[in-house]
Amino acid sequence: MYSDTFLATQWTDGVITSSASLPSLVSAMLHLLDVHDGQQVLEIGTGTGYNTALLCHRVGDTRVASVEIDPTLVDDARDQLAGLRLEPLLVAGAGAPQAGPYDRVLSTCASPGIPAAWIEQLADGGVIVAPFTFGGALAKVTRTGSGEVSGWFDTEHAWFMPLRPAGATGPAGLLVDLPDPAAPAAIHENDSTVDLDTLQDPDFRLWLCLHLPEARLVPVVSDDLSAHTGLIVHTATHRADYTIDADGQGRVIQDDRRLWDTVEAAWRAWHAHDAPSRERIGITARADGVQRAWLDTPDSGVTWPLPL
Ligand SMILES: C[S@@+](CC[C@H](N)C(=O)[O-])C[C@H]1O[C@@H](n2cnc3c(N)ncnc32)[C@H](O)[C@@H]1O
Repeated sequence: MYSDTFLATQWTDGVITSSASLPSLVSAMLHLLDVHDGQQVLEIGTGTGYNTALLCHRVGDTRVASVEIDPTLVDDARDQLAGLRLEPLLVAGAGAPQAGPYDRVLSTCASPGIPAAWIEQLADGGVIVAPFTFGGALAKVTRTGSGEVSGWFDTEHAWFMPLRPAGATGPAGLLVDLPDPAAPAAIHENDSTVDLDTLQDPDFRLWLCLHLPEARLVPVVSDDLSAHTGLIVHTATHRADYTIDADGQGRVIQDDRRLWDTVEAAWRAWHAHDAPSRERIGITARADGVQRAWLDTPDSGVTWPLPL
């Protein structure tokens, strides 16, 4: 039976480690990829092989490569695809198989930046479509003659499981537990001018992630789950708790790391730049590891390093 839902297809230690993505998102990402006849295509994250089959249908199986870190999944996908008489190049591992250059790279796992191997194996003029680990961001970048890739975040929101490092056997270790509140002596309490509406705006959340790449954002909801009442921003060792009181005033309790001061600064900057939507944020990345996001133009002066 077909439905527009994502399907978890593998669990490891209670964490989803493979899935068939939401069909409407698969379709939106394939549109963004804009594949043409005769192009060589690389998929990152074979999983079930479903998306691989769609790519084979578009350009022919001899032009498709797909890499999957879990060798068991590669074997299963190979069997499934063989049943459709498709024999793309399936590789167990990470990075990009050396069968490039590729005209198109489609990642189906999230990354904090663009891995060097994908840029190195991309043809000049080639396109990478990749989801990021923060803010539900999805980027489309194109390789220029100088070997750099540059492009923009898309309007589409894409939440994908994180890319596992080469050799990893378990789930990616991106999840960080909420630390306990700090000892009272290290606590700062203050009012906040940040409003809840802005905090709930997905484009502001992406903006905030760029300012605080090491932090996680945890929404606080009312007891009956009907309304958002605050936000916890935390790293592995520090936290700031923001809540709205009965008078509608935002209040913050934060420890010495003062994460909320950065939230306030990001909020002021976001409004000063007319509440930028995600399509106003671009990315430039080089295979040598220099990667950054920027607002409007690469030299606008509003820029953030990407933590690859
Ligand atoms: C969302 S699922 C893939 C969905 C798949 N394209 C499909 O159509 O079923 C993401 C996959 O990426 C794989 N993966 C995670 N890290 C990887 C890496 N570094 N290189 C290749 N695959 C990876 C996971 O094992 C998982 O199967």
